[in-house]
Amino acid sequence: MSENTLILGLQWGDEGKGKIVDNLSESIDVVCRFQGGHNAGHTIKVNGQKTVLHLIPSGILHNNTKCLIGNGVVLALDALYKEIKHLQAKGISFKDRFFISSACSLILPTHITLDIVKDKKESIGTTGRGIGPAYEDKIGRRAIRLGDLGDLKSLKEKIYSLVKYHNRLLENIYQHKPHDADEVFNEVVKYKELHDKYCIDSPQTMHQWIKNDKSILFEGAQGTLLDIDHGTYPYVTSSSTTAGGVSTGLGIGPKFIDKIIGITKAYTTRVGEGPFPTELHDESGSMLAQKGNEFGATTGRPRRCGWLDLVLLKKAIFMNSVTDLCITKLDVLDEMQEIKVCTNYHNGVPVYKNFEGWLAKTEGITTFSDLPEKARLYIQFVEEFVECSASIISTGPSRNQTILR
Ligand code: GDP
Ligand code: IMO
Ligand code: MG
Repeated sequence: MSENTLILGLQWGDEGKGKIVDNLSESIDVVCRFQGGHNAGHTIKVNGQKTVLHLIPSGILHNNTKCLIGNGVVLALDALYKEIKHLQAKGISFKDRFFISSACSLILPTHITLDIVKDKKESIGTTGRGIGPAYEDKIGRRAIRLGDLGDLKSLKEKIYSLVKYHNRLLENIYQHKPHDADEVFNEVVKYKELHDKYCIDSPQTMHQWIKNDKSILFEGAQGTLLDIDHGTYPYVTSSSTTAGGVSTGLGIGPKFIDKIIGITKAYTTRVGEGPFPTELHDESGSMLAQKGNEFGATTGRPRRCGWLDLVLLKKAIFMNSVTDLCITKLDVLDEMQEIKVCTNYHNGVPVYKNFEGWLAKTEGITTFSDLPEKARLYIQFVEEFVECSASIISTGPSRNQTILR
């Protein structure tokens, strides 16, 4: 029996999910995205070549691996088209190995405008990709879905009605000029090819794969602390980033997930606004940002940096039923004299345990016993505190800079 694995972020995103999904995909039959949209930026590095994926699952670089975008994802057709063309130009094939659920809600140009004007008032610091407004319409039962491109006449009516609604919001609430419904319709129809080539029924396709004992990897986007229900609300994204999202986002029961790998950086980062108790505003914070090259893979914004928060991490592990921990970016701590982890809060203020830095190079190490002793002790402390062992440790951005224990 093959094993199905979920990989998700335990922090505020950018934990290195793309790198780990790519690393594990070699021997995997199918990789699926189940939530989020092109707000995600998943970076893969192979032989010095960097690929950033926003919508396409991070298994795409392995020719024998199929990729599915599940119904829980909100889909920007123009962004997807660009991403496909970019990868095809590098020689990657999509034929018979790439699929999109007919039930994906579409992100329209009006959603992007709404996201941007709303964020000027609400200051969440969104990625400006239209994610929130698109999920609002999905829940409001007004969304246009990929399958709607199969009937252009009724698609036109649905788009006219939705754009009319968006324009009322834009003009009356945000004092912004309206969009032209015909232009929005034409913009959607421009990408009809994506519907004709790749549109499938997600639960039915998943069912076939599971019946045929295919190994499936579920690729989370964002992270647990950005979850719409369980994150630092309202400073969250608009989807279920936690383990529960897999079932609803693909149309399969939870019993098909065998292994849940939760990813954390060896420290913490956050992009956008919202609480971040262990954030650093000093020299150590700048060192993490610089050595970790902490700039958003989607928006290029600088990421806020701070120490690892074990209180939040332990909670995230529980919420997702994590079976295996993965710690990334260990090498970023190589030059730190002192490393701290938050083990408690006193009156809302983090209480830290201090570690002496190992001040040695871990970059590229692939065997646990080759790590400096102080780095091993740091990892052991984390494992014991959160009561979960780290079966994967990442020591650099490249596919092979990985310790599999
Ligand atoms: P994702 O959104 O979770 O896939 O993560 P991102 O791709 O947005 O951000 C992670 C960044 O860290 C990327 O630039 C990766 O290339 C890089 N990265 C991943 N793992 C490691 C690691 O172990 N060490 C270092 N130095 N960089 C890493
Ligand atoms: P990956 O998959 C980090 C953050 C935004 C903002 C909040 C809401 O690469 O880890 P949204 O555009 O989703 O409505 O923005 O969520 N955010 C992310 N932060 N990594 C991501 O994705 C993110 N996707 C959204 O910065 O704070
Ligand atoms: Mg990212």
